[in-house]
Amino acid sequence: MFSEVSEASRFGANSISRGGRVLDRHGRPAGDLRISVTDRCNLRCRYCMPEREYRWLNSEDILSFDEAVTLIGVYSDLGVSKVRLTGGEPLLRPNVDQLIRQIRRSTSIREVAMTSNGVLLAEQASTLREAGLDRVTVSLDTLDARRFHLLTGANQHARVVEAINEVQKCLFLRTKLDCVIMRGVNDDEICALFEYGRQRGIEVRFIEYMDVGGATRWDLKDVVTMPEILQVLSVRYGAISPIDETSPAPARRFSLQDGTVFGIIASTTAPFCGACNRSRLTADGIWYLCLYSERGIDLRRQLRGGATREALRETLDSCWRGRSDRGAEVRAQAKQRQALFPAERLKRDPHLEMHTRGG
Ligand code: GTP
Ligand code: 5AD
Ligand code: SF4
Repeated sequence: MFSEVSEASRFGANSISRGGRVLDRHGRPAGDLRISVTDRCNLRCRYCMPEREYRWLNSEDILSFDEAVTLIGVYSDLGVSKVRLTGGEPLLRPNVDQLIRQIRRSTSIREVAMTSNGVLLAEQASTLREAGLDRVTVSLDTLDARRFHLLTGANQHARVVEAINEVQKCLFLRTKLDCVIMRGVNDDEICALFEYGRQRGIEVRFIEYMDVGGATRWDLKDVVTMPEILQVLSVRYGAISPIDETSPAPARRFSLQDGTVFGIIASTTAPFCGACNRSRLTADGIWYLCLYSERGIDLRRQLRGGATREALRETLDSCWRGRSDRGAEVRAQAKQRQALFPAERLKRDPHLEMHTRGG
């Protein structure tokens, strides 16, 4: 595995911040860490895992909870205050509630969130909440059980709906619903999905189909853009106002006249790289500074090689200071835009997959 550590140290990051804000080359702080706790998934969403076979990470490389928590502690020194557990499907990792408890007990992370496909969530929701999970975002792209089966390869729609009901009972904070909209697939459900969220007080975020690793069948013509989504909603609901907020979050937020708020993640056509405060740690300890990065920083090797906390802190600090990535913006400028990677390339390097680096 390639390491960028020595390269990053060229950026002269000798100072080590404790609780201070470390800024990257575009002045962006490190705020949000997405940790993929497993690369496995129990669904095969068409926009993410459309292939028949996948190459998985080596099981002996997967970070233990202790290792992950050690790294999270160091990230919090860098300024990271929010951790989002992702996958694959994070609930496929056994005892993930124990990881949440450890994060709560041993680090000063302010918010712990999770993005889940919901299939295993109903039975775990209350345990996760008790363990200290603050927020859940559930992915659901259709309200039609048959269509769900076609889109994900699994007949599990009812379980996801049950999970959303359960999550509401457990009083998680600011639950959201993520809906990837694809032309000719579920673009006829924009209003129905919106209504579903609205009736439950759940903020719906419509996501433009992205050409990220994993989306090997991606085609620009299948992308339903932010203006198109707004158009559909305004025909049904009338005036829509953008919410004026500066936020590093990927969603642009809007409100209806009745106050209902929703978001659109338009990272395909209107990237938000300028404010991006997030990075990603894979289940096997490779740190990616951008969703689109081709290379990551091998923290597992350093950790297992006996690096001190101070040494790890220096690595994180210098790599973040050297960060200049604006992956989605670069993609948006591509002339003939196609899937980012062909399936063969993803097979050679599963770290390029969206399900490996955390959705
Ligand atoms: P909150 O703002 O806390 O609600 O979380 P979030 O929006 O970061 O979390 P979520 O996992 O729901 O992310 C929503 C979707 O935004 C992801 O599934 C991706 O499709 C997209 N996304 C998240 N992070 C990035 C990123 O770094 N770059 C790009 N281009 N898209 C991202
Ligand atoms: N386009 C948009 N979002 C994607 N996700 C995965 N692949 C893609 C893609 N090609 C996101 C979705 C899903 C989450 C787990 O990952 O938001 O809900
Ligand atoms: Fe679907 Fe998420 Fe699984 Fe990808 S990781 S197949 S988006 S549920």
